[in-house]
Amino acid sequence: MTKLAVFASGRGSNFQTIYKKIQDGYISAEINLLVTDNEQAGAISFANENKISVATINPKDFPTPQAFGKAILNRLGSHQIDYVVLAGYLKKIPENVVGKYHNRIVNIHPALLPAFGGKGMYGMRVHRAVFNSGAKLSGVTVHLVNNEYDAGPIVLQKAVEIDDCNSPEEIANKVLSFEHIVFPEAIKLLVDNKPQVIGNRVIIRNYGR
Ligand code: GRF
Repeated sequence: MTKLAVFASGRGSNFQTIYKKIQDGYISAEINLLVTDNEQAGAISFANENKISVATINPKDFPTPQAFGKAILNRLGSHQIDYVVLAGYLKKIPENVVGKYHNRIVNIHPALLPAFGGKGMYGMRVHRAVFNSGAKLSGVTVHLVNNEYDAGPIVLQKAVEIDDCNSPEEIANKVLSFEHIVFPEAIKLLVDNKPQVIGNRVIIRNYGR
């Protein structure tokens, strides 16, 4: 069974959604570990309630990104993790982790990358930028993680109509509801099919979409 580690820094609604999709058999995997940088993260209580191991690893406790990465790799190794799922994780993944888990780290971004992404573009900052741009569409992007912020090969995207949204908060809420559909679908795709990555393109054979 494919073993997942979920990384979350906050409330963890995507984490909970993925867990539930595993429980109902939609995703053939198990979540063996929650990694967080924030001991106040709401995701921790959900993990505890569901007997999922928790590793609180704060980058501030390490002298270098390399040392931070080693601590992460130790925990991933001891739980035999196959895939890393970033579900609202705000820290940059160290290069030694990206290298070891090449094309096996997936992230969700609440906009249609490459637009409205990159360093510092997270949470409400994204939705404010989208709202202020006057765009009629936003959306959800699930992508593989490389050493750049929000720049890895895209696995799945879904556009979301936002013409009816009158504030960045309304955009955030509408996009989040689509995240809870698209993220589990993307993880199922990755778990069920060995995707080919050619340059920045993810090819998933016999997947009609
Ligand atoms: C989501 O909007 C996600 O797109 C972004 O961080 C937020 C996490 O929300 N990466 P939650 O913790 O999953 O509720």
